[in-house]
This record gives sequence, C-alpha cells and structure tokens, in this order.
Amino acid sequence: LKEQMEAALGSVESKEQLGEFWQNFLGKKGSIADLMKGLGSVPKEERPNVGKTINEFKNQVEARYQEMKNKMDELELAARNKSEQVDITMPAKMRPAGGLHPLTVTENEMIDVFAGMGFEIYDGPEIEDDDHNFTRLNVAKNHPARDMQDTFYVAEDILLRTHTSPGQIRVMDAKKPPIKMLAPGRVFRSDSDATHSPMFHQMEGLVVDKKITLCDLQGMLDKFVQAIFGSEVKTRLRPSYFPFTEPSVEVDVSCFECGGKGCPLCKHTGWIEVLGGGIVHHKVLENCGIDPNEYSGLAFGIGIERIAMLKYGINNINLLYENDLRFLKQFKG
Ligand code: PHE
Repeated sequence: LKEQMEAALGSVESKEQLGEFWQNFLGKKGSIADLMKGLGSVPKEERPNVGKTINEFKNQVEARYQEMKNKMDELELAARNKSEQVDITMPAKMRPAGGLHPLTVTENEMIDVFAGMGFEIYDGPEIEDDDHNFTRLNVAKNHPARDMQDTFYVAEDILLRTHTSPGQIRVMDAKKPPIKMLAPGRVFRSDSDATHSPMFHQMEGLVVDKKITLCDLQGMLDKFVQAIFGSEVKTRLRPSYFPFTEPSVEVDVSCFECGGKGCPLCKHTGWIEVLGGGIVHHKVLENCGIDPNEYSGLAFGIGIERIAMLKYGINNINLLYENDLRFLKQFKG
C-alpha cells in the first residue's frame, strides 16, 4: 500500500488530482479507512500493533499529502506572479489631454496684453441692479438707450447685466484714482442669430487719472489690436454714442485679411469694427464721487466672441457654445 501511495502521489499533476489522492487514501471511503474497518477481524493481541502501524502510515500519508500541497501552492503562486507581472519599463498608454476653449484662449491672450500695460483684473456680479447697470452709467429710467440692450429682468430693478460696464461703477465706488482696471465676464441680452447669443462675453477697460485723453485710449487700443491681429494692423476711431462716454467712439481695425484693399471679411470696406469706447462721461465720474475737474477717464468694452470669431475665422457664434469636438479639437495645443 505504501508503494501504491507513492506511485499515486508521483502521478499527481494538478490540484484536482491531489484532491482525488486525498479521497482515495485519507477519505471516509479511502484505503486507510478500510484498513481501520478491517482491524476488527485482527486477533486481539495483535490489534495494538497493527493499529499503531496503520496510524503511523496514516500520519505518513498526511505528511506526504501536505508536502505535495505546499509544493503545488508554491508553483501556483509563482505562475501567478509571473503572469501578473508588471513591466514598469513599458511605455505608458497615452491619455489624450484636453485643450482650452477658443474663447478662453482669446480671453487669456487679451488679459495678457492689458496686464502688460498695468491693468488689474476685476470680477463683478452677473446679476446686477438697475442702478449699476443703467442709472449710474447715465442711462436714466426712460432713456431710449435702454432699448439698445434688450434686458433680461430677474425681478423689479434686478437684471442680468447687459454689459460689463457696471464694473466701472463698482470699481470707482471701491477705490480712488489712479484706476486701471480690466473686467472680463459674461453678459446677457435677449438677442440671438448667427453673430449674437443671449449670453456672451465682454471685457471692460477703465482708466481714471489726471489728464486722460482720447489719445491714451487710441494708443492702448493700437497696442491691443496689434498684439491680437498683427503688428501691421491700424485703428480708426469713428464717432459714436454711448450714454456713459462723451465723446464716444467705435473702433475699427484695418482688415488683416486683405490688408485694407477690400474682401468679404471687411465687406469690401477695408475696415472691421471691433469695439466701443470713449471718454468717461463727467456725470458717471460724479456719480462715483470723483471730481471731473481733477480727473478724467477712458473706458472701452470689447466683445470677446467677436475677437475670437475674427481671429479664427469662425462664421457662426453658436459653434462656440455647442462643444462639438470636431470644432474644439482644432484649437488644441
Ligand atoms: N458697454 C458698451 C456696450 O456693451 C461698450 C462700451 C464700454 C462703450 C465702455 C463705451 C465704454 O455696448
């Protein structure tokens, strides 16, 4: 039986087979159990001896079984370690990195240009009151200019700001001149077509100091448009009207597409309108407790979508909000 046992163990190759081996020798119906049963028919005086021998054999089989099991466990672990091994020298799977939205890229670029001129960034509330958005900007209650900007009202006298100009009031309330602030942010108007969206972005600029003139405005805007559209670009100021600036100007840049000769982008005029601005109205300064005889200011408001669309040749404003990856991917990197 001992030889049988060794032979059986020698042919064990898997855990299942090892289990069978255990059943055959050590199980309830195994050989050793049979031997025990046979003990009854052994003469009484020989029983202790035979019993002892069987027990020794049983211990031996159990030891051999355990030995074999340990060996198999070890082999199994080694195999698993090998198959699950991580090669840390393998090149990593590349995760595609995201990119900045073209509006963010444009806004950052614009901020960079003005920060270089010493402007500080101001962030105002998107929900404004009538006072900051209109009245103190010299747009009185029944002023026809209120119709220029179709307003979303949240409650009586509470609205979604129609421009970033209320930032002028908030900054002048908070600090005394000299002031040089830039206020980028979201604005809202009930207006929507290929070039207008009910939500869009503006960047307000305000400079208040002694002897600020229209020349300062043009000089700063020259630097700005040249940084954005190219060093050969020129500006042109046209008279315009805003209630909070006097004089008010509309600022055009010479067409960077055709060099001013005339093309579809500039509607064959050679000039493209890019922003509005002017000299801060003395009433606005007074409304903020600044003496217009001592100080003067310049202000401008730039539509960020407009700049981005011109810069990248985007013909529909909605492309900027749809988050179509085929569109966005073109601005990566
Ligand atoms: N707030 C004006 C607009 O939204 C732009 C502007 C800003 C004009 C500052 C003059 C001075 O149209």
